[in-house]
Amino acid sequence: MKIAISSDHGGYFLKESLKKHLGDIQVEYIDCGTDSETSCDYPDFAYKACKLVQNGEVTYAVLICGTGIGMCITANKMKGIRAALCSDTFSAHFTRAHNDANVITMGARVVGPGLAEFILDEFLKTPFEGGRHARRIGKIAEIEKAESHV
Ligand code: RB5
Repeated sequence: MKIAISSDHGGYFLKESLKKHLGDIQVEYIDCGTDSETSCDYPDFAYKACKLVQNGEVTYAVLICGTGIGMCITANKMKGIRAALCSDTFSAHFTRAHNDANVITMGARVVGPGLAEFILDEFLKTPFEGGRHARRIGKIAEIEKAESHV
């Protein structure tokens, strides 16, 4: 499995910490920036990482900003992206199992590095359950399609 990871300045340190963890658990990643604490705009970095999910280069993207909210809002504007803001392992588990989320966002000012690792591990190891949940994902896709013409 290969994943993309990106952050703005507010998420930079958590991104670096999660990169080390991904190395430890041998998950390959593409770092889509940012590369310092210099102020930048989170939509630019959400877009870069989610593009890799859209084109199939990676399975998932991990996006980190101060709250995780700006990254999540941006990611969910992109076709085929189902992004979930997670601050706990329960949400990380069920957003994979029930929502087939392909992007996880976290707030570096909300969760510490230890909890963020547990959240990410839970997200990466949980499969989509399918069944009735697949029908609901289909409905999300229908809404996305209909709204793209508005
Ligand atoms: C940047 O200060 C902050 O607004 C950003 O990291 C994020 O929290 C936005 O949602």
